[in-house]
Amino acid sequence: MKILVIGSGGREHAIVRKLKESPLVEALYCAPGNGGISRDAECFPVNAMDKEGMLALAREKGADLVFVAPDDPLAAGMVDFLEAAGIPCFGPNAAAAQIEASKVFSKDLMKQYRIPTAGYEVFSDPKAALQYIREQGKYPAVIKADGLALGKGVVIAQNEEEAKEALHSIMEDKIFGESGAQVVVEEFLTGPEVSVLAFTDGKTLVPMVSSMDHKRAYDGDKGPNTGGMGTISPNPFYTEEVAKACMEQIFLPTMEAMNAEGRPFKGCLYFGLMLTQDGPKVIEYNSRFGDPETQVVLPRLDTDFAQIVEAVAQERLSELSIQWSEQASACVVIASGGYPGSYPKGLEISGLDENGQAQGVTVYHAGTKLEDGKFLTNGGRVLGVTALGETLEEALNKAYAAVEGITFDGAFYRRDIGRRRPQP
Ligand code: AMP
Ligand code: GLY
Repeated sequence: MKILVIGSGGREHAIVRKLKESPLVEALYCAPGNGGISRDAECFPVNAMDKEGMLALAREKGADLVFVAPDDPLAAGMVDFLEAAGIPCFGPNAAAAQIEASKVFSKDLMKQYRIPTAGYEVFSDPKAALQYIREQGKYPAVIKADGLALGKGVVIAQNEEEAKEALHSIMEDKIFGESGAQVVVEEFLTGPEVSVLAFTDGKTLVPMVSSMDHKRAYDGDKGPNTGGMGTISPNPFYTEEVAKACMEQIFLPTMEAMNAEGRPFKGCLYFGLMLTQDGPKVIEYNSRFGDPETQVVLPRLDTDFAQIVEAVAQERLSELSIQWSEQASACVVIASGGYPGSYPKGLEISGLDENGQAQGVTVYHAGTKLEDGKFLTNGGRVLGVTALGETLEEALNKAYAAVEGITFDGAFYRRDIGRRRPQP
């Protein structure tokens, strides 16, 4: 198989690396890719949203399959466009990608099909939304922009003033553009969070091993929300019993709900869950692999990844038996000073070898470029340093030992990835 991967982050590097292990893969391309990915796949400077450009590239390279990894091209119909031109894809079409691209769609879906989630109301008028929050008088209040907002569209307002401010910036100042034309106001839930990615071809759904993201920028879950500062797998809160409940109450009902709506989902469906006192509930769906969840989940996959990807595209997932390693994994993200706000680019990274790797671990590149044989920073999240171990402790120790040897001006990382554990 010749496979073209669309995207340019740490997730895409992990996808490329895993595909590269497969004897079925004859050639790997990535667009636009990044400095680290260019060591593992041939990269082309085609924008991830450029449908015509991707089709031309896929044709020129004779790609047998295109793996569409990021949310925005999925929501914009990249899969519809390529499949109409006869090129098989891994990823949902635009209709199915709505499960991530519209919170209003996903909340209404869950309500209609009785999938457990936080109670909510939808508003297109900021005054009405504020009136509702006032009447409820319950804080924190959770306010979510309807559309895609780079993971920043959720505000947890601690009081009326913060709620007013959030509604104003999302709905009137439109800081996320049309994504903020509607908002969802929802009930605040508490409990440990779990990410579960699942392969599905619309007929069969196979959950992958669980993981835990760390979304806040600083130690102790302080500071602003980010795309994710580190991950571990498995998630120590996700017991077999919880997994069984999720399969019956959430995962399969979601696949069936999408079929009933005439939007069969094919690709990777991401369940962002909260384990509440009343059982597991859905916090969000994503229509794609998570970043940096992928960086800890795929290294544990024992079955040929290319074989799975092909089976999903051909709706033959039921034929496979997917196996996982018993090992644990951990990923620590090294970010640019200033992230998730503004940050400098083009700083030289020290501690990487000529392939952008470090001893004893796998370094997934999220925001790097390669110039004259040197790796330079080129994004907010720069590297995801990942290790496998017999235990979570061993994986974390290996990852952190490597992180200490890699640096650039202003680099920072969280020191408490994987520290939160269930009370015995
Ligand atoms: P999302 O982008 O929907 O994943 O939301 C980002 C983060 O906000 C989640 O990972 C949660 O930590 C938090 N969050 C979202 N919705 C809720 C909720 N209803 N109750 C409590 N926390 C929430
Ligand atoms: N790490 C969360 C996400 O990919 O949305």
